[in-house]
Amino acid sequence: MLDKFPLSEHKKAGILNLNDSHATRIKNLASRIDGKVVVVGSLNADLTVVAERLPNPGETVHGGALQILPGGKSSNQAATCAKLGARTTMIGAVGKDGNGDLLVSSLDALGADTSHIRQLDVPTGTAMITVDEAGENTIVISPGANGEVTKQTVRDSADAIKDAAVLGLCLEIPMDAIIESARIAHDAGTTVVLNLSPYGDVPDELLQLTDILIVNEHELAGVTGKALGPVDKDDPVDKDDSWRQAEDRLRELGISTTVVTLGGEGAYLLDRGKHTPVAPLPVEVVDTTGCGDSFMGTLMAALASDLTLEEGAELASVVSAIAATAQGAQSSYIDRESLLKLG
Ligand code: RIB
Repeated sequence: MLDKFPLSEHKKAGILNLNDSHATRIKNLASRIDGKVVVVGSLNADLTVVAERLPNPGETVHGGALQILPGGKSSNQAATCAKLGARTTMIGAVGKDGNGDLLVSSLDALGADTSHIRQLDVPTGTAMITVDEAGENTIVISPGANGEVTKQTVRDSADAIKDAAVLGLCLEIPMDAIIESARIAHDAGTTVVLNLSPYGDVPDELLQLTDILIVNEHELAGVTGKALGPVDKDDPVDKDDSWRQAEDRLRELGISTTVVTLGGEGAYLLDRGKHTPVAPLPVEVVDTTGCGDSFMGTLMAALASDLTLEEGAELASVVSAIAATAQGAQSSYIDRESLLKLG
């Protein structure tokens, strides 16, 4: 785990390819994080097994020891924010069971406000995760308490949403609760950041309440109804026509700012007609679980602290790449102190 493998060791081992000026810039960006973020959404116990390869349908493969790790897309985003020093509140639900206690106590330990997490008489949400030797994974989630988050849950925590600079949402709790959160935030002037994951159809109303959309290429194709043109790995700007078409469609849907995450190729920003590729940080991948969540969490922490979209995405690209070099989701996230020692 990253905590047991300090960043300086990553550098020595050649796992991090940051030169000194890049490291200085990243440290400067990280040192400015102090904003207020609220996340409404899921908390899952990640039941994780590493296997040599992922099983094919109908196949059984041997794996290593079962690990139960704190996860859930929203909880992962909140964990990243808290680890980076943002003042973070998590709103959601877990069960009155050991997994629920694990999820609440681990966010508590990071300094997040967990007083808006309800403990209900249903099982905590779980994710069945298999990771292969290349760090790729398959994930099946069982919602448990996440499925019990309602409009009323959100209304009861409205003050925490209004009080934050940025709200983070994904699609792992009921749609009614997601829309209500976005509505409260929108009316209060809190920036709404929506991740369309796990992908599903979204009502137009939610997109219209969204300030910044975060999607991968598949989710982008889903929401715009059109896959991007061929990817030129060496020059993403070559895709400009496809990007422009995607942006036009997003604008019709009411979205003026979109961050497209491209895994090992970095990210691409579509911001009111301005297109900006974000360079990836090449790393030795151990486990990609939760990397997208750490990208989103970092971006939210940055935006809440008045960093620009470009600055936030640059920092997020590094933080999420580091997350890929260790196992698990939250267990792989770097904290502010380690980030400030970079270089
Ligand atoms: O994005 C990774 C997360 O997806 C895991 O932590 C799992 O809980 C699922 O929500």
